[in-house]
Amino acid sequence: MVRQPGEGRGKVEESALRAPVGFLVFAASLRAASLNAKLARLAAQEIEACGGQADLAAMRDFDCPSYDQDVQDSGKVPPGAVLFRERLERADAFVICSPEYNFSMPGVLKNAIDWVSRMHPQPFNERHGLLMSASPSLAGGNRGLWALRVPLEHLGARLYPEMFSLAQAGEAFTAGGDIANPELRTRFASGIRGFMDLVEAAKHYPCAKRQWIEFPGEPGLPAGQAARMTPGR
Ligand SMILES: Cc1cc2nc3c(=O)[nH]c(=O)nc-3n(C[C@H](O)[C@H](O)[C@H](O)COP(=O)(O)O)c2cc1C
Repeated sequence: MVRQPGEGRGKVEESALRAPVGFLVFAASLRAASLNAKLARLAAQEIEACGGQADLAAMRDFDCPSYDQDVQDSGKVPPGAVLFRERLERADAFVICSPEYNFSMPGVLKNAIDWVSRMHPQPFNERHGLLMSASPSLAGGNRGLWALRVPLEHLGARLYPEMFSLAQAGEAFTAGGDIANPELRTRFASGIRGFMDLVEAAKHYPCAKRQWIEFPGEPGLPAGQAARMTPGR
């Protein structure tokens, strides 16, 4: 369906226009009162309101013992890693709301990524991702997202260029769990919608997809351009 810019932007129209797209959404925090879990819940709601299907997961479900190659070689892959891979594979794309720990990502997330990175097919490869963060700090956890981009980009995830980081997040939510600041709320929603448009195009409109130059190796590119950028994938 051809859509003009700005057309069909109401929530009802949006869901009527959207071709089916599924998103795994989770916060990379184990704690019950997680600010990132609040943000993940809101992202899942926004996705559903815009006509997508959101699979809201808990980091606890994907939690794994520290990666150990001996365990992997013995074939005992932890259930958390198996489930993480399954839920990723069921989705067209993923949204991670990650706390910033010491300017980087939490170990629980990196560990889960390491486990699934040894699986074949490796589920991050060619899967679209959107990164978000919430933190009590003024930087909103944004520095941790830059660190998170590194392993995910290496694994072939197509990370959305824009990221959303909610600063002073302890005071940033309303009692109902929404983002209190209207400008930030709008930016949050438009970021999600832009990401959804991209995922929808990649899945359903391969003609548009072939025009993109940022994903070398896509089927349909001339053979000379089809080399992988990252060795080992
Ligand atoms: C080990 C550790 C390191 C942290 N490092 C940072 C940091 O570098 N930057 C930051 O903004 N907050 C940092 N924090 C504070 C977290 O942003 C804060 O605890 C946040 O609420 C965690 O996310 P959650 O609410 O989703 O669990 C750190 C917290 C912990 C426990």
